[in-house]
Amino acid sequence: MVKHAGDLKPREIKKDIFSVGAVDWDRRLFDSLIPLPDGTSYNAYLIKGSQKTALIDTVDPPMKDVLLNNLEQLDTKKIDYVIFNHAEPDHSGSIVEVLAKYPEAIAVCTPKCKGMLIDHFRVADNRFKTVEDKETISLGDRTLEFIHAPWVHWPETMLTYLREDRILFPCDFFGSHLATTDLFVRDAGQEYEAARRYWAEIMMPFRLPIQKNLEKIKDYKFDIIAPSHGPVHDKPEFIIKTYRSWAFDEPGNIVVIPYISMHGITRRMVAYLVEALTRRGVTIKQFDLAVTDIGKLAAAMVDAATIVIGTPTVLAGPHPTVAYAAILANALKPKAKFASVIGSYGWGGKAVEQIASLISNLKVEILPPVYCQGAPQAADYQALDNLAATIAQKHKDANLS
Ligand code: FEO
Repeated sequence: MVKHAGDLKPREIKKDIFSVGAVDWDRRLFDSLIPLPDGTSYNAYLIKGSQKTALIDTVDPPMKDVLLNNLEQLDTKKIDYVIFNHAEPDHSGSIVEVLAKYPEAIAVCTPKCKGMLIDHFRVADNRFKTVEDKETISLGDRTLEFIHAPWVHWPETMLTYLREDRILFPCDFFGSHLATTDLFVRDAGQEYEAARRYWAEIMMPFRLPIQKNLEKIKDYKFDIIAPSHGPVHDKPEFIIKTYRSWAFDEPGNIVVIPYISMHGITRRMVAYLVEALTRRGVTIKQFDLAVTDIGKLAAAMVDAATIVIGTPTVLAGPHPTVAYAAILANALKPKAKFASVIGSYGWGGKAVEQIASLISNLKVEILPPVYCQGAPQAADYQALDNLAATIAQKHKDANLS
């Protein structure tokens, strides 16, 4: 069995319930898109009931030997059920190897997840058992309840609740991309930042279905929430309260300004606007897209009320890096209420119109843009002051604090 540097042995969360997944310290990009400054983990959990044994989720395929080795270390001769809460390969990608090693194991998942797992991995139909919402499976002295939770964050997702121990296994939900040796959350500040970035990148686009799913589980009692990324929550009220805030609360009196500047003009306009907004009591988060970590930008958009995009004109349109950020913001669907564009042009172009068309998913009121020819003149600075005053007043009128 291949031993990876830094592999952690199985660790007991509670009697006969073990964390058997893998910590990926060195991964720096997910989906060839999302930066992972703190690495991540692919958590899987083995539950040994008095009669049956269940494995909750698997791991990303490059880490499959870590999982199989951990199962061997626990002297796992037989697995009855492998629970697939989610079909994305970072959790399901070891399905072929696990089902081959444990030939009696049945894959348990939602009907939609079964179709996706067959599509992705060509697993035989007779290896599956699909479960309906609230259906249960007995492990003898323990009961698994399956809670369908579509769109956290794919359409097939479900949560698994271990009733007697009051443990929720929610896969991606309540997770964080954080490599750590801490089995449980021990640094709440670090976990908050990682969970916030994770929410922004993975969960925020599905805020409305997440509201429904948070309501659906609000009467369950949880002693532990054991997600499939990041440390385990042994004080689960922290992450539930935080998720409810991100999902339901109004945005804050905050403006996010992602921008690019080629010759310093747009940067000068951004600096002026930042000062004008600060003077009016608004909090600003400013990101030079040429150097920023897009995960930091995404996290800043979680509770911003306004997004002001700064761009010079390049070949008659916005700077391509700004267009990329606008497409990303459009996909992440933050709860901003207002947006605008500032920047400059040399001889003409359609940068403002093109940016507006790229953020059509955002339910925002577009505030008058400030676009100037060449370096800003007195009238342009006045327009930036007017934009700052408008933003501050809009935030005040909407009771944002
Ligand atoms: Fe961690 Fe949606 O997979």
